[in-house]
Amino acid sequence: MGVDYYPEHWERTMWEQDANLMRETGVSLVRVAEFAWSRLEPEEGGYDFSWLDDAIDVFDRQGIKVVIGTPTCTPPNWLVNRFPDVLPVDAVLHPRYPGIRGHRCYNSPSMRLYAERIVEKLARHYSNHPAVIGWQVDNEFSLNECHCESCNKQFRRWLSNKYGSLDAINEAWGTVVWSGEYSSWDQITTPLGGTAYKNPSYLLDYKRFETDSVVEFQQLQVNILRRYCPEHFVTHNIWSYPMSLDYYKLCETLDFASLDYYPNTSPEKAVSSGYSGALTLDLTRGIKRSPFWIMETISGPPGCWFPMWRTPHPGLIRAYAWQCISRGADALVHFRWRSAPIGAEQFWHGLIDHSNVPGRRFEEYRVLCEEVNRLSEVLGGSVVLSEAAVLHSHDLYNAFGIQPQVEGMHYFDHLKLYHRALTKLGIVADVVNMTEDLGGYRMIIAPSLFLTDQSLADHLETCVKNGATLILTARSGVKNMNNVCWMSPLPGPLADVAGTTVAEYDPVGNDIHAIRTKSGKTYSCSQWCDILEPAGAETIAWYEDDFFAGKAAATVRELGKGKVYYLGTIAEESFYLDLFREVVREAGVNRLPGLPEGVQISVRSKGTTLYMFIMNLTRKRQIVSIGGEFSSLLLRKTVGPELDLDPYGVEIVKMEQ
Ligand code: GAL
Ligand code: ZN
Repeated sequence: MGVDYYPEHWERTMWEQDANLMRETGVSLVRVAEFAWSRLEPEEGGYDFSWLDDAIDVFDRQGIKVVIGTPTCTPPNWLVNRFPDVLPVDAVLHPRYPGIRGHRCYNSPSMRLYAERIVEKLARHYSNHPAVIGWQVDNEFSLNECHCESCNKQFRRWLSNKYGSLDAINEAWGTVVWSGEYSSWDQITTPLGGTAYKNPSYLLDYKRFETDSVVEFQQLQVNILRRYCPEHFVTHNIWSYPMSLDYYKLCETLDFASLDYYPNTSPEKAVSSGYSGALTLDLTRGIKRSPFWIMETISGPPGCWFPMWRTPHPGLIRAYAWQCISRGADALVHFRWRSAPIGAEQFWHGLIDHSNVPGRRFEEYRVLCEEVNRLSEVLGGSVVLSEAAVLHSHDLYNAFGIQPQVEGMHYFDHLKLYHRALTKLGIVADVVNMTEDLGGYRMIIAPSLFLTDQSLADHLETCVKNGATLILTARSGVKNMNNVCWMSPLPGPLADVAGTTVAEYDPVGNDIHAIRTKSGKTYSCSQWCDILEPAGAETIAWYEDDFFAGKAAATVRELGKGKVYYLGTIAEESFYLDLFREVVREAGVNRLPGLPEGVQISVRSKGTTLYMFIMNLTRKRQIVSIGGEFSSLLLRKTVGPELDLDPYGVEIVKMEQ
């Protein structure tokens, strides 16, 4: 259990009191310093770490470990002033001014130089400090979409590395359209003007270049930290989803991924927030396919540059913390210990309010610390048991962002839709990069593989032949990885695996249509209608209306030991609940019989022992049947077969396999 703490915002006398209260509460970790550049290097080359030394010593005396954030998200004024190339430049060539944060171009030579210098100083200084255990690089990286001179130069270099020649670029991007062919390297710029009319292959490569710029900038720091602090871990706190920056690449050389997790506190969002949160956590676990950290999470009402949200309902802070652990978090760092009386985030509340009187939320946090600390040995080393894979890709997200397919259709919403249906059925999925090895999964859901190459199609085919059930959906196999359309019947390279092709499609957008399944049930659908022509597959749903009434909307086929579904439209949720129920029954995937709306379960396993977490992420009392009597880790007694959960109530039961 940890907290985010900013010693530079408080009087020193407060540090002692805070560290003392942290220890009493059960906090064993703090994250410090990630925005403190102007205090760590008040003037060029004039480093002053004495205050941080003192603060870290205060924590050390209380047995609290420290994670140091490198301060590169906030270049100080002296640096910006002296080297304005530090500032990112937008598509109409306006600089992003300092005053907030994130005002640093990843390709700026001055930024890189001064970042490396301060990180090296910090790394050397803290490499042997007994309290320091690891590093967070920068803060919540995202793509800058920078158009400065350095970025332009680096973009051309990146393209030359990737394609080798201008001819190859012209060919891969199809620049012949609208006379866009390049005849010399200096004609290539970043997408100035920022319009959506530009060549989609070029725009997608620019996004990839931007990811690589972040990765390189981070790697400069990682290299230094590895050199001087080989015993320490290095991580980065990612900012949620959906995201253009490719987190898989970003986290490749890190020890583990960390997530900043802020569930929505509003009553209307109470149920949906739990489901999208579950997806975010499963995505984060999928980044490195291993446990992760929560580096920031909710402690009070969020607000500041927007009007404040509701305060976390009693139990919400604790329940969401257990949700994180249940889905693979191995540490929880709450943002933040105290609410700031100064600066831009005065009303993004911490555990302790401005009143300086620990209140209801603090008390809930204290109970959480007590529980987590009591169970950490039992749960430590356990891993999340997942039964399905959902494929995700930042490339797909970006490609759909560059060319929205139809009104109301959003790639990430599809992931939410399918993942939510699984979560409602009590199935925990690994949400992983579409390029991952998927061997071993019995159920693979592959939402809209818009960009597909032959190797992805081949890999999926192998998984199916070995026994997996694969679910493909509309807008798959449309383009190659260069964002160029395949000229073969949809779903392109996936047509053979699907055993069906798309004769014609209608981008119906927000118009509501209907499908009817074999069982005679009807469901509404919208966004997209692929009119299918089965070639070996069997039709399982037909359109009910429009000129394509009676035509196939969804198919299934057997292939080797597995099955492939192709769903040509986007249906209402109950369709997926019904379909997935059938698929998991056939695939032999475990699940609980029916969870109430907003109640989630997840299982962590260790040896032959299973720990099942049951969380009521709603404002209502809920009754859940868990199918037997088990011993409760929280209550230290036998519970079940029915659980009576308070609003935001949590239960953890132990089962033997
Ligand atoms: C995070 C950020 C923190 C703080 C928090 C609350 O996204 O990393 O530094 O700003 O949000 O706004
Ligand atoms: Zn730049």
